[in-house]
Amino acid sequence: MIPQRVAGSSTLAMLEKVRQMKAQGMDVVSFAAGESDFPTPREVIEEAHKEMLEGNTRYVSTQGVPVLRDALAKDYKNRLNVSWAAPQHFLVVAGAKQGIHLALSAICDAGDEVLIPAPYWVSYPGIVKALSAKPVTLQTRLEDRYFSNVETLEKAWTPRTRALIMASPGNPTGLMIEEKLLKEIISWCEKKKVVLIFDELYERLTFGKTKHVSALSLVTEAQSEWVLSVNAFSKTFGMTGWRLGWVASHPKNIEYLTDLQSQVLTCMPGFAQVAAARAMDKVDSILGPVVKAFSNRKKIIMEGLSGIEGVKTLEPEGAFYILVDVSGVIARKNLKDDKDFVQKLLEQQQVVTVAGSAFGAPNSFRISFAMSEEEIKKGLERIKTFCVS
Ligand SMILES: Cc1ncc(COP(=O)(O)O)c(C=O)c1O
Repeated sequence: MIPQRVAGSSTLAMLEKVRQMKAQGMDVVSFAAGESDFPTPREVIEEAHKEMLEGNTRYVSTQGVPVLRDALAKDYKNRLNVSWAAPQHFLVVAGAKQGIHLALSAICDAGDEVLIPAPYWVSYPGIVKALSAKPVTLQTRLEDRYFSNVETLEKAWTPRTRALIMASPGNPTGLMIEEKLLKEIISWCEKKKVVLIFDELYERLTFGKTKHVSALSLVTEAQSEWVLSVNAFSKTFGMTGWRLGWVASHPKNIEYLTDLQSQVLTCMPGFAQVAAARAMDKVDSILGPVVKAFSNRKKIIMEGLSGIEGVKTLEPEGAFYILVDVSGVIARKNLKDDKDFVQKLLEQQQVVTVAGSAFGAPNSFRISFAMSEEEIKKGLERIKTFCVS
């Protein structure tokens, strides 16, 4: 039998549970969604359809079709302030997850170490383990806005450390790293020859005071040897099922990753790439209402949680998640841990959430607010009832 090195994704397992419960007719409120509830814009689907009818259904360039890499380069240059961005800095991949897997498979040999500040996106350690490398998780504190500083990285470093992976805005916290700290981390990575994999998946979905800073905007083209930016159309454009993302970095890195990708995936579908490039032209009209909706929902969540004793949280600045520390509630209700909290919340109130320990954040749970305001209010009432009972 083949060996099992990695457990399945706990967030995807939770979503499967929701499907089953709904199929049984249960009145479930699910705060577990990992994708926007806004559909792929109709015009993007129409573009893809048109491309297919016109014959764009064959193998295309492994690195990605020029029209998409041009659009990405323009966007990095004009919006994300990466003055040197050009099409050769981009590789189109099958979503951010595959981009991260591809990058780590190029970087790590078996036994190499990857630093992962916790709370982290659930799949980072799993991807590292799948490559027989070693995830080294770093605990952070709510007081530090759940980010690691350079001293922590330095303490965790060993001669086997090859990469550091982090997201901003983060999943599960929705928090964004400040420019000063990001700069310090990049300098440290360069000094230690550690590759920073900077996951910017939610960078367009922001609604706080902090402005998103792309890691590549803080380096020259030469320094981008140590920085990989990973992103995708998944969350921003309601395109999770399209599996379309990209990696941006130094041209040499992109060349190596493209060679590797040519042995693994051949290419991403041409019709999807062209449609996505066109979506980028219409981004403001597509995203305006989405960001506004998430911002309103976040307000409702903050208000709803603020009155509950034993609950601590930091206001998310982006994405559609919030990490809620419930150590106070766990202690008062004499629960075993966050998993017990989430399980009992499900059994007693039919509210689905994800336990913080799935993200390396024990004593917490994650709420996703990719759902209607009515559902959010209904779910919050139930959470409150559970916490105070
Ligand atoms: C931080 C983060 N990175 C990567 C991914 C995976 O994105 P994709 O669907 O583009 O593979 C997710 C999905 O939830 C995520 O939250």
